Amino acid sequence: MNLGMEAIPHNWHEQIFNLLAERIVVVDHDGIILYINEAYCEFLGTTVEKAINRPVQDVIENSRMHIVAQTGKKELAAIHPINGSEMIANRYPLIVDGEMVGALGTVMFRSPEEWRMYKSKIQNLVEELKYYKTKVEKELKSKYHFHDLIGDSTTFVAVKKLAERISASNSSVLLIGESGTGKELFAHAIHNSSLRQSLPFVAINCASIPEHLLESELFGYDDGAFTGAKKGGKKGQFEIANNGSLFLDEIGDMPLSMQSKLLRVLQEKEVQRVGGQKSIPVDVRIIAATHRDLEKMVEEGRFRQDLYYRLNVIKIEIPPLRKRKEDIPLISMTLLKKMEGKFFRNGIELSLEVKQRLMQHSWPGNIRELENVLERAINVLDGKTIEVYHLPLYLRDQELVSDHVNETNTIMNNPTERNPLPISPLKETLAKVEKEAILNALVVTNGNKLDAAKLLEIGKTSFYEKFKLYDIK
Ligand SMILES: Nc1ncnc2c1ncn2[C@@H]1O[C@H](COP(=O)(O)OP(=O)(O)OP(=O)(O)O)[C@@H](O)[C@H]1O
Ligand SMILES: [Mg+2]
Repeated sequence: MNLGMEAIPHNWHEQIFNLLAERIVVVDHDGIILYINEAYCEFLGTTVEKAINRPVQDVIENSRMHIVAQTGKKELAAIHPINGSEMIANRYPLIVDGEMVGALGTVMFRSPEEWRMYKSKIQNLVEELKYYKTKVEKELKSKYHFHDLIGDSTTFVAVKKLAERISASNSSVLLIGESGTGKELFAHAIHNSSLRQSLPFVAINCASIPEHLLESELFGYDDGAFTGAKKGGKKGQFEIANNGSLFLDEIGDMPLSMQSKLLRVLQEKEVQRVGGQKSIPVDVRIIAATHRDLEKMVEEGRFRQDLYYRLNVIKIEIPPLRKRKEDIPLISMTLLKKMEGKFFRNGIELSLEVKQRLMQHSWPGNIRELENVLERAINVLDGKTIEVYHLPLYLRDQELVSDHVNETNTIMNNPTERNPLPISPLKETLAKVEKEAILNALVVTNGNKLDAAKLLEIGKTSFYEKFKLYDIK
């Protein structure tokens, strides 16, 4: 059957090919070039006359066209290094009357710049998608109350009492604490025991939201504010949270330019949508959280001092797990009980030695790390008792290193104490501690290297170097 190609004058074909795919090549079953267009030849530094009838691998560097003409397997969006840059190539086998006669190759982007342009556009979309996805997931999660915050050590109980007491106030709260200490739980709990409890609780993660979205996300936008803006505009999170609480998580990661805009809203208690003229009054209780040292950031000019003062009306410092080790057994048992339901198990216990190990460890990833360790143990457990060999390697084998770390901690907290351990070269000790820190971070982030690097506050290149250096699997 002919689909009407013959209606197209023959001398148009060339130009149509050129417009359809800027670079195009056709080879026969043996990989001999039957057709190649000018655009492709120009890029290769050759001419159509010179290229035609030659083996494709002699004309196009790294070509795989002759292979596709043999295997019959198409290769889509393959990265093809050519002339020192990378092209995106598609290679299709040509099957005519049921017989493989050759292959067709196209190049999707004319230059790396063009590819980069597409890539960055897509990248933005991917980021937006990721952001909304986690947001939707978060919103579906149940809300927490103070009784969900486990711990009866005096340190923790004091912090919890303070948080409960200030819940009813309208003043801004700043939650400070290391990663995994429960900042988010505290934020929920404060809202849920405030007078605003039946009104919206809106959470925004300042670190995960792409910078170009942050302003319109917080303040909304008006009709026609930018291309792609929804018709009729969109409410920002401030408007959505009106009369309720707005949780600004990872506030330390908010770019400086946004900090100024946020400060203005907090002072004036009204927002202006992006591209909008009128001011909309808002009454929102701010709960901010960060694992960063904001005071240091203020000193270094990375966080606005005036904003810091605004947020820091009520400061709540959540202690890390290593400063309330007596809570570890209770938290572990509560977490286990919760997980049992998820795994359809019951009566799971910790062996005495495991309890000791858990008490000994310094928990840089805090409760989140403890959760991961226990969940991992349940996964590999067949009986009812979690033994040392169910723990991850770094808790099992690195006894000595953990002791070192604990020693270092006690010595730092109590400088008069002597170190009873044999002294080894500083370099070795540091390397051990560094390796353990990396392993711990990887456990906390479930093996995600980029997140682990962030947690350790080192660049990803340096993270990968160390990862290789210590031969971490
Ligand atoms: N006191 C607690 N009792 C029981 N579980 C807790 C407690 N604190 C935290 N958790 C659990 O630990 C995990 C981490 O808590 P959360 O997400 O609130 O930490 P975070 O301080 O916000 O950490 P990050 O800075 O990494 O965001 C959660 O799964 C939470 O349920
Ligand atoms: Mg958090």
